[in-house]
Amino acid sequence: MNLAILGAQWGDEGKGKIVDLITPRFSIVARYQGGHNAGHTVYVGGRKFVLRLIPYGILHPGITCVIGNGVVIDTAALFAEIDELIGAGIDVGKRIVVSDKAHVILPYHRDLDLLAEARRGERKIGTTSRGIGPAYEDKIARRGIRVGDLADHAGLEQEVRDNVNARNRLVQDTTMDAKAVLDQLRQHAERLKPWVRDVSLMLAQAMRDGQSVLFEGAQGTLLDIDHGTYPYVTSSNCVAGNAAAGAGVGPDLLHYILGITKAYTTRVGSGPFPTELPMNVPGTVGHHLSTVGQERGTVTGRPRRCGWLDAAALKRSIIINGLSGLCITKLDVLDGLPEIKVCVGYELAGRRIDILPLDADEIAACVPVYETFAGWNESTFGVTRWDGLPPNARRYLERVQAHIGAPIDMVSTGPDRDHTILLRHPYQGGPDAATRKERTAC
Ligand code: GDP
Ligand code: IMO
Ligand code: MG
Repeated sequence: MNLAILGAQWGDEGKGKIVDLITPRFSIVARYQGGHNAGHTVYVGGRKFVLRLIPYGILHPGITCVIGNGVVIDTAALFAEIDELIGAGIDVGKRIVVSDKAHVILPYHRDLDLLAEARRGERKIGTTSRGIGPAYEDKIARRGIRVGDLADHAGLEQEVRDNVNARNRLVQDTTMDAKAVLDQLRQHAERLKPWVRDVSLMLAQAMRDGQSVLFEGAQGTLLDIDHGTYPYVTSSNCVAGNAAAGAGVGPDLLHYILGITKAYTTRVGSGPFPTELPMNVPGTVGHHLSTVGQERGTVTGRPRRCGWLDAAALKRSIIINGLSGLCITKLDVLDGLPEIKVCVGYELAGRRIDILPLDADEIAACVPVYETFAGWNESTFGVTRWDGLPPNARRYLERVQAHIGAPIDMVSTGPDRDHTILLRHPYQGGPDAATRKERTAC
């Protein structure tokens, strides 16, 4: 049985922790979109790991980690991550597989990302400035460089020269040297070579052999290029459907789709956010969520904007992704709040609506309608059983489930693998579940 895990909000929902937790049930973990704009944090026995490109399976011995065709790869960032893992004593060796069809992020993409943001001024997206958007632009415009092209030096040279010249016409304050870019690419191509494969065929064979695959999403549904709060989105499809296209498997092979959401909402970068709260005043809920939740961007260090959980936005996520179930993370961050609110709909132009619209101006005009719950004083940190939760926390989760109309399968009560309540096993009985059980974390 294969499973896809993805963000149901605006990213940073705690996907990394959940992927890491359930990875031992699978043979392969595959990323299918985004790039090193992602920052997935995991604590294993108190030790912190942050991964941007490499799937979380890497922390578990014997798991193969795939970077699919839908990902855009900054080779320098990939090698830095690999070296960091090797430095931490993790066997990376032959466990990484990179699709020959994945596109490469080049230094001119980073420059163009910065330029586009500067040009937008007040309307800037607030990107991670990693060159993600321009790399996807080149892919769609059919002038991108793919991992598989790196070996083809003749064609590569012309393409890189054309792209660097285009960059130099746009970014006039500095000039980039195409030869330096090419030299670096050739060096990187050599190091990358042993990992490059036809991922689609490799996954098909693995599944025929009875292995199961965990598809690891980056970003979140509301940052999806089509279904998110456009234009304040990332440049890839983050929704479940792209797990198939971005890894090269048929959609019927996504057996279970698990959406991850925080017990509240955060967002990094610009764009509308109906339930956003002011964060700077100590003693306010926004300040509580930001400080107790340690809400700072993993990639850029920017403070994340914080607000109440938005059940009307989650409903949108459930529809777009066909979510089988949800995992609610960071419940412990709500501990100690006297009352807790959940947005169950909006007032928009004199009408009541119960699902997030997707036009950015309409969202900005939405006034949230809240349901209010009594909070709890007990600590939920690290609780591992449903009946170990305070009654008010259980009531809150039950009402959220009723509002969104999808089952809550898991609740996360702390950053460590063990800080999790498992309510329903989405992956129980997978073909290789039993053989993987004995695997332990490294
Ligand atoms: P991702 O991008 O979706 O993988 O999420 P990030 O790693 O960017 O951000 C989630 C943060 O919350 C990380 O620092 C996690 O260690 C942390 N985290 C995950 N689950 C929990 C939880 O249940 N409680 C608390 N307190 N922290 C959590
Ligand atoms: P993970 O996988 C949160 C946001 C950026 C910006 C917008 C576009 O850790 O959840 P980009 O650099 O992608 O062109 O920026 O998307 N963004 C994320 N926000 N979590 C992420 O990844 C994000 N990746 C991109 O802040 O608003
Ligand atoms: Mg993150």
